[in-house]
Amino acid sequence: MASNEQQIEYWNGRAGQRWAAQQERIDWNLAEITEAVIPFARAKPGEHILDIGCGCGTATLMLARAVRPNGSVAGVDISAPMLAVARARAHSGQADIPFIEADASAYDFQPTFDLVFSRFGVMFFADPFAAFANIHKAVAPKGRLAFVCWRSMPENMWAAAPFAAAKHLLPPQEAPDPYAPGPFAFADGARLTDILSRAGFHDVALTKFDGAMNMGDTAAEAANEALNIGPLARAAAELDDAARAKILDVVATAMQKFATPRGIAPAAACWLVSAKG
Ligand SMILES: C[S@@+](CC[C@H](N)C(=O)[O-])C[C@H]1O[C@@H](n2cnc3c(N)ncnc32)[C@H](O)[C@@H]1O
Repeated sequence: MASNEQQIEYWNGRAGQRWAAQQERIDWNLAEITEAVIPFARAKPGEHILDIGCGCGTATLMLARAVRPNGSVAGVDISAPMLAVARARAHSGQADIPFIEADASAYDFQPTFDLVFSRFGVMFFADPFAAFANIHKAVAPKGRLAFVCWRSMPENMWAAAPFAAAKHLLPPQEAPDPYAPGPFAFADGARLTDILSRAGFHDVALTKFDGAMNMGDTAAEAANEALNIGPLARAAAELDDAARAKILDVVATAMQKFATPRGIAPAAACWLVSAKG
């Protein structure tokens, strides 16, 4: 199987540290999507749930509340810094949740989970077919899969607009491979359906969710955010402060057009994905 070494390095390096340090802020960015995907997953009291790519554990903790009193939830992730935040949050909420540091594409899952869930944690596999074939092993008989992932970058203005505005200030970028591991790897719904079907899932259904990303009260705040999360953050990660300051300027101007009464809120386009095991 292709190796996830690059992603393991990425999510244990600056990216993972940034997500760990800014967990509350990122949860606020994603609030509208979380409010859609949690009910979509239909977690019920007594169920046993696995959260793939659980990160800092926000959805894991929400699902743990939904399965009370006799259900259980576990999280699996490759990022040590993000798992440390998840464990601390569970500990302070007195929730008994195993957070496992492992690559979900290779972990030896047992078929014990009624629901395998993810909020944006399944688009980073080098070999998505092999990864989902392995994840399928975690699904109990009559169990199900439910996750949210991004549609294409051009539909996701929170990502596309700041990147386009700053492109001339970035180091030369390789032409993107639309299927490479990364946030938009599952933009192509037909390909995603095929991957899941070949991995053993059936009744695969993709529903469009069109929401908005909370980026900040002001355009300057939103520009700062675009340097923290998403494709611009990745492309600008190694730039010095002077280069980042120039980027902040042009991106703030570009973000102004997404001003709404609730702040800067550009389009966020997702797939809500469900399947049976
Ligand atoms: C975009 S973050 C989402 C984190 C979390 N689900 C959330 O919504 O806040 C992607 C997560 O997937 C995790 N991840 C990437 N590849 C993985 C793999 N092969 N196995 C397990 N987790 C993985 C990353 O470490 C990261 O925590």
